[in-house]
Amino acid sequence: MCGIVGYMGSSGVASILLSGLKCLEYRGYDSAGIAYINNGKLNVTKSAGKLENLEKLLTADRQSSLAFSGIGHTRWATHGVPNDLNAHPHLNADSSIAIVHNGIIENYAMLKEELESEGYKFNSDTDTEVIVHLLTKEYKKTNSILKAITNSVKKLVGSYALGIISSYQKDTIFAVNHHYSLTLGQGDNEFYLASDIVAVRQYTNKILRLEQSEIAEITQNQVRLYDFNGHETMREFITVDSDPYLINKDGYKHFLLKEIHEQPTILRQTIGKYMVHPNAKINFNQNNEPLTNAHTQEKSAGVHLSKNDIMGIENILIIACGTAYHAGMIGKYYLEQLCNVPVNVEIASEVRGRNLLVNEKSLVIAVSQSGETADTIAALSEAKRKGAYTLGITNRADSHLSRISSNLIITECGVEVSVAATKTYIAQVVSFLLFALYLAEERGSLTTSYINNLKLELHSLPALVETVLANETYIKEASIKYADAQDMVFIGRGINYPTALEGALKLKELSYIHASGYAAGELKHGPIAVLDSLVPVVTILMPGSVYDKTLSNAQEARARNAQMIAVACSDDEKAHKYFDTVLEVPPVDELLSPILAVIPLQLFSYFISDYLGKDVDQPRNLAKSVTVE
Ligand code: M6R
Repeated sequence: MCGIVGYMGSSGVASILLSGLKCLEYRGYDSAGIAYINNGKLNVTKSAGKLENLEKLLTADRQSSLAFSGIGHTRWATHGVPNDLNAHPHLNADSSIAIVHNGIIENYAMLKEELESEGYKFNSDTDTEVIVHLLTKEYKKTNSILKAITNSVKKLVGSYALGIISSYQKDTIFAVNHHYSLTLGQGDNEFYLASDIVAVRQYTNKILRLEQSEIAEITQNQVRLYDFNGHETMREFITVDSDPYLINKDGYKHFLLKEIHEQPTILRQTIGKYMVHPNAKINFNQNNEPLTNAHTQEKSAGVHLSKNDIMGIENILIIACGTAYHAGMIGKYYLEQLCNVPVNVEIASEVRGRNLLVNEKSLVIAVSQSGETADTIAALSEAKRKGAYTLGITNRADSHLSRISSNLIITECGVEVSVAATKTYIAQVVSFLLFALYLAEERGSLTTSYINNLKLELHSLPALVETVLANETYIKEASIKYADAQDMVFIGRGINYPTALEGALKLKELSYIHASGYAAGELKHGPIAVLDSLVPVVTILMPGSVYDKTLSNAQEARARNAQMIAVACSDDEKAHKYFDTVLEVPPVDELLSPILAVIPLQLFSYFISDYLGKDVDQPRNLAKSVTVE
């Protein structure tokens, strides 16, 4: 949440900072700004709204292209509305120090009161502004920016990352990391700074990640690192040999549509990686890679549980947020069904402040596309403290989650640019299925023939997803008929209850139409009161153990004149008889049905959103990486 960039070198700073901010816009797009030094003077240019607003200002600001050092920020508002005043960078009174900030300063109210009583004037509603005044106060005492930083961080409570620039030390920018993420990149007599390696990798493959409580003093020729006591620490830049994270739309109108279409390939890669052949055992450590690649500092995927560990697991807890939580709900179903082990699934933010009942016999699985979600990280850290086995499922090998998980499944979807998660969701779901099959094989909880049949079905799944995508034109026409709805209800049972929740979440996020997902059996316990002829009800009606009951629940909605939409199999005659619109998927085993059923729902939300002219890839108020609790 929020993105920081920085540059110190000999090229024009504005375009470099802007290009970095473009890579980080997924972290928030409420406002953006930069601070730079030119002719010894510190300047700030910032604007509420998307990056294009800042870009316009900078085009008119010739000074910024002549400067060689600066910091920049893209904001997701926490304290204070998204306006120009609350936009970063924040400046002190005499324009000598400017800062950009990610994270939250938990004790900012107390610090603000203290600073105000000493005469410091605040111009914004942000928690950030206390830092710039604190730095100013400490600079006055010490005459050193570094000392001002080490003195100030001792007073700040919370997790945060900072970029700092000052006219007192014109040839330097500073970076501060405290339980956040900041990466430095080294070029030829130049250094880059960013919250995400993606923004640095466009310029260089020599990188250095800041440790959890670390300060970097960056000049054109060198970077010096310090701990929070001001003691210098030594670390080298490392060469990352993986490809740069390429980000382009490949001719699609939106990243979201491109990412929806990448799903068959991702399924093929993920299934093929861990299950080389339908008759082979599932293997998460096929290359015997070391858990952490010393070269790249990235953690390799791997499950390092011994047979004894696996046999000893008495319960599993899955923690996640948003779409990843829905994947976790399906994971619970797989693990209980296939491995006979009790599983709880919790929204990560709801775990905080509770007595987390896990121990050495528990496996805690944290699921997060970004691997940076603050609530998920905090819950996993607590589980680790209590001695549980940990497994991370994430799309980012270089993330915080990867670093703290003892076992790791990387979903390897490539960067997911669109804020609404699609391809990472199906990769998480299929990872859960593969992991459940792996545990089932190790624990002997299923017959070999059952496992082999399921593996065969799994092998043919990517082709079935392609069949659904081939029906895109029909789905588009069918979807936009419902674009004027004010409310929609999604219902599903059993393994497709999470599909209903995910369908509703996608519609809300992308189209801003209010939508709720319910367990189909719950409809009559209250939600049915909202139904009338204006409310479309989307039923996930997949063949299997709960088909008849789901159909009965849908009939209850039909009897209230609701507009009836089904996600159902192409050969389902009842669906075609009782529903106004059928979004078809091919017949498939019930266990695999959530992976197919979600595809038409993703397209449904996409087409409605695009038809309504919404900002598909960057819906209002959201951010891709939610790094505040
Ligand atoms: O990076 P994470 O998977 O931990 O993010 C969790 C949620 O913030 C995320 O899934 C969010 O709900 C998406 N916008 C859903 O499309």
